[in-house]
Amino acid sequence: MAGLARTRRFRFTSHIPMDRYVVVGNPVAHSLSPRIHARFAAQLGERIEYATLEAPLAGFRAAALAFFKSGGQGANVTLPFKVEAFELAEHASDRARAAGAANFLAKRDGRIEADNTDGAGLVADLRDNLGVRLDGARILLVGAGGAARGVVAPLLAQHPRALVIANRDVERATSLARRFAAAGPTSALALEAAASGEYDLVVNATSASTRGEPLALPDAVFRAGAFAYDMAYGPAAAGFIARARSRGAHASDGLGMLVEQAAESYFLWRGRRPATAAVIAELRAGAA
Ligand code: ATR
Repeated sequence: MAGLARTRRFRFTSHIPMDRYVVVGNPVAHSLSPRIHARFAAQLGERIEYATLEAPLAGFRAAALAFFKSGGQGANVTLPFKVEAFELAEHASDRARAAGAANFLAKRDGRIEADNTDGAGLVADLRDNLGVRLDGARILLVGAGGAARGVVAPLLAQHPRALVIANRDVERATSLARRFAAAGPTSALALEAAASGEYDLVVNATSASTRGEPLALPDAVFRAGAFAYDMAYGPAAAGFIARARSRGAHASDGLGMLVEQAAESYFLWRGRRPATAAVIAELRAGAA
């Protein structure tokens, strides 16, 4: 009898619906987020379902609303929908408002809320995983698109000595620097003019490598002992990293940022913070 009761209890718990999450993008099939969140849940002994959701390019809003209507708890949002995700939400955090974009949605008290965990992910990877000092650092942020805009405020919150934004289209860099002028020491440059400064950290936030295009950034921005970070990961970051290392700089791709933004998302959804080091190492080893 006792055995039967145990079986019944087991069956009962196995039928409790799991909290459901997705990463929405287009394309999204190769996203590492489902693997990352599966590792987090296993580590914390929680049962969640986390899947990919490919929305049609003109259909993000309908796809996201249908997911939440069907009982979904939360969504990560990736390219090209981060601005639409921000616009969809009925409430947005300061971080999402500063970025004008959201990579995080949650349904809370019947409304859809937006946040942006990308900048927190970048800062956590640089400062906590890679030991890069941000306080007092001279930072060159390369790029002035959506990816760059999402990390300016979180970087400035670390009190760098300077945050210089360099972009191919200098007007975009100037307007981004102006937008955040009240938050810290920002300035703007054309990409080819970036060699004139000395930087402790160079962050690549352009989409040049993912488009398969060369990045016209002078090699002189990479100094021996400085740090270079590409927000892309894997093969897309290889060229930037090789250039930085050839000048004696330390360098990393953005795999750690990906895992850290996921950990911050998990924490916001579920109130528990997963450990990230083992997950980063596992993905880096290609074993996940
Ligand atoms: P994302 O959301 O990925 O940032 P985006 O808003 O289109 O996409 O911005 C792309 C960024 O990559 C921009 O800073 C862009 O420079 P421009 O503003 O001058 O277009 C930069 N970028 C893309 N391809 C580039 C290339 N081949 N060389 C230099 N910068 C490039």
